[in-house]
Amino acid sequence: MKKPKAKKPNWSLVVLAKESGGGIAPQRLEKIVAGGDLDDEIAAFARRGYHFGKTSDGGLEITGWPRRLFAEEIAWDLAASVVGRRVEVHWTVSSTNDLARGEAARGREGAAIFAEEQTAGRGRFGRTWRAPKYSSLLLSVPLLCPGADVEAEGVMLAGAVAVAEAVCETTALAAEIRWPNDVLVEGRKVSGVLVEGLAPANGQRWLVVGAGVNVNVEEEDFPAQIRDTAGSLSQFAGRRVDRALLARAILRRLDFWWEILRAGQIGRVSDAWRAKSSILGTFITVESAGKRHTGRVVDLDHHFGLVLQLAGGPTRVFAPSETTIIS
Ligand code: BTN
Repeated sequence: MKKPKAKKPNWSLVVLAKESGGGIAPQRLEKIVAGGDLDDEIAAFARRGYHFGKTSDGGLEITGWPRRLFAEEIAWDLAASVVGRRVEVHWTVSSTNDLARGEAARGREGAAIFAEEQTAGRGRFGRTWRAPKYSSLLLSVPLLCPGADVEAEGVMLAGAVAVAEAVCETTALAAEIRWPNDVLVEGRKVSGVLVEGLAPANGQRWLVVGAGVNVNVEEEDFPAQIRDTAGSLSQFAGRRVDRALLARAILRRLDFWWEILRAGQIGRVSDAWRAKSSILGTFITVESAGKRHTGRVVDLDHHFGLVLQLAGGPTRVFAPSETTIIS
């Protein structure tokens, strides 16, 4: 005899219980379950590692969840225009950017590709991005550029803005952006964004935006050479941070900023950077095309280059593609 098909779990229970903080009120719970069997739902989630308890007023609270990510939880009710139209969670991949490039080659925009582990995660300038399994968010999204106006530099900055906003929203930590692609908390790098362009084909230009966020990384798990400069959200929040909630917030903000860029409103990205910049108005040293320069950060130009007032001299623009901040 054919086995009856298992009913799909009602993911709204998980998401609403988490997002409400205190739990789902009884009247709301009744509507969500709508004549179904709540105990069956709870048992189905327990098999996946989610645990619920009843609140004193007869509502439902979530008391535990698995350390792995579930795509259905991240995707529930996102209402994405583009970013997060589909959500995938993989176990081990070379790099989520590689998978997103594959999606782009098949002409599929907007899938949010997450992985629990990367064997060849990469950063800017050929650097390596490492993260212990289940500790981080490793995410990439393929984006189809509507015209020549959308630049990789803008997407990189918008990606950093999206991550910083999502971190503030879900953890209340004061996340800042260090131009052009780093997100910092208390001066330590908690996230980096990498944008890669694909060779134009059939008149289409694709970009892949990838973000790595150190969510629950233990200090000793950072490679020795970055232990003094890298940080993890859990370290600053003083608790484990819920990766699924943060993933949902990042996708929402990235979808918002991608709409802004597609509408040609690049000034709004620069404004958001100004509001969250860790370096605006400060003196910094950059390395660009093999040379070091020191000056005060004045602003961004139209191509998201950094405008520095050089010591005793004129202002000069430094392009993100060839510039690193040294100190
Ligand atoms: C940087 O700071 O240089 C950017 C780091 C970007 C890392 C992320 S992790 C997910 C995605 N896949 C990759 O291989 N890189 C990006």
